[in-house]
Amino acid sequence: MEDVKGKVAFITGGASGMGLGMARAFSAAGMKVMIGDIEQAPMDKAVAEINAAGGDSAGIKTDVTKLESVQAAAKATVEKFGKVHVICNNAGIGVGGQSENASMRNWQWVMDVNLWGVVYGLQAFVPLIMSHGEGGHVVNTASMAGMFGLRGAGPYNATKFAVVGITETMMAEHRGDNLGVSVLCPGLVATNIGDSGRNRDEAYGGPVEPNAKDKSKDMLAERGLNPDVVGNLVLEAIQDNQPYIFTDPSLRYLIERRTKFILEGYDWADKCKALEGIEPAGL
Ligand SMILES: NC(=O)c1ccc[n+]([C@@H]2O[C@H](COP(=O)([O-])OP(=O)(O)OC[C@H]3O[C@@H](n4cnc5c(N)ncnc54)[C@H](O)[C@@H]3O)[C@@H](O)[C@H]2O)c1
Repeated sequence: MEDVKGKVAFITGGASGMGLGMARAFSAAGMKVMIGDIEQAPMDKAVAEINAAGGDSAGIKTDVTKLESVQAAAKATVEKFGKVHVICNNAGIGVGGQSENASMRNWQWVMDVNLWGVVYGLQAFVPLIMSHGEGGHVVNTASMAGMFGLRGAGPYNATKFAVVGITETMMAEHRGDNLGVSVLCPGLVATNIGDSGRNRDEAYGGPVEPNAKDKSKDMLAERGLNPDVVGNLVLEAIQDNQPYIFTDPSLRYLIERRTKFILEGYDWADKCKALEGIEPAGL
């Protein structure tokens, strides 16, 4: 979608971090922006900032773990701006823990926000984007943790691999029509993700107090990319119809290393006894 001026974007988790970076970048390029976030006060602040800078934005409190909430946000977007062209399924939370011993509540929470939140965004917004014939774009926020296994983050990895899988399937399904599809796979970005526990609903055990011993927040603040840079990157990717959006070119080796390990599995299969003499079925 080269010409973004006047187009309408909906961004989940747009009150903070990369979602806010996208809102700022899209608005600076002349797009209308609807922010959907679970946090009212930062969302109001973001909308006020964008509009004070000459943008046209609004916010609607949205909980991406609830389909009805995301559907209501889609309805409100069309009521406010007439139509919608871009959906950024970006809201997400960080949860640590190994697959075998992370608490089931945290497993549920991270699946509900990071995976179901994306699915609900697709269900509520893609039919609306396809309905007006002007074309549009889907950006699903995954992570480098959707590209390789990150130690101590099994549940988070599960959600991000799923988001990559869903998005790659959509890339194939929409090749040749006027819906661009991208997956954003950030490396370290200096956002508030280290304080995700602030938004843990009572259904998952309630808010988590920041852990003073947790150094990951300091590390993100010190080494992470400015989220506004990611906003500009996502805008450029939409304009260029770029499917994979990576924020850190130095991490290319991780993809190469994973691919090498996978191909070694094929080398082994070529030689193994159980498959000897079997005609491959192909796909
Ligand atoms: N920061 C990083 O280093 C990094 C790296 C890779 C991927 N990501 C991903 O980037 C995305 C954006 O996160 P961020 O780093 O900007 O963090 P952030 O905490 O700054 O922003 C996340 C936003 O999502 C909102 N949110 C949380 N739960 C929600 C819910 N149930 N419904 C609606 N909104 C909700 C929060 O209120 C917040 O505004 C996430 O999907 C995250 O997994 C982050």
